[in-house]
Amino acid sequence: MLTKVSFQLNGKQVSVEVDPNTPLLWVIRDTLGFTGTKYSCGMGICGSCTVHIDGKTAKSCITPIASVANKSVMTIEGLAKDGLHPVQQAWVDEEVPQCGYCQPGQIMTAVELLKNNPNPDDAEIDAAMKGVLCRCGTYQRIRKAIHVASGEVQDD
Ligand code: FES
Ligand code: FES
Repeated sequence: MLTKVSFQLNGKQVSVEVDPNTPLLWVIRDTLGFTGTKYSCGMGICGSCTVHIDGKTAKSCITPIASVANKSVMTIEGLAKDGLHPVQQAWVDEEVPQCGYCQPGQIMTAVELLKNNPNPDDAEIDAAMKGVLCRCGTYQRIRKAIHVASGEVQDD
């Protein structure tokens, strides 16, 4: 049975009529056309589908759409209000991505880390980022880019 679910996506109110168990990831990508968030394992293991729900990271492939009713969802497309977000800029400056597939999840996770801890050390970065896997092994550059962006992320 289809259910109407309303929520905020990247600051705009949206409504969809879908099965309430549909993963948020499907709705973001297929129903609403925001394809920046990537599908990989579909089982909550790899972190490539990470978005923010009410400011906290969540794996959208295992988040039923009904659970985000009246909440605020942010994807990689909504991060920057103007130009590039400081974390995205650091990713560009440090040439972090290789294939790029995991990077939206990496960036969304790094933004949450820097909001909670503006100047993390290497161990804190590794602990915060361990839930997002990178098959290309960009972990060293991710760590460096987070150091570059540290102190520049505002809590909003
Ligand atoms: S696609 Fe969601 S955790 Fe892997
Ligand atoms: S850049 Fe290829 S999986 Fe991370």
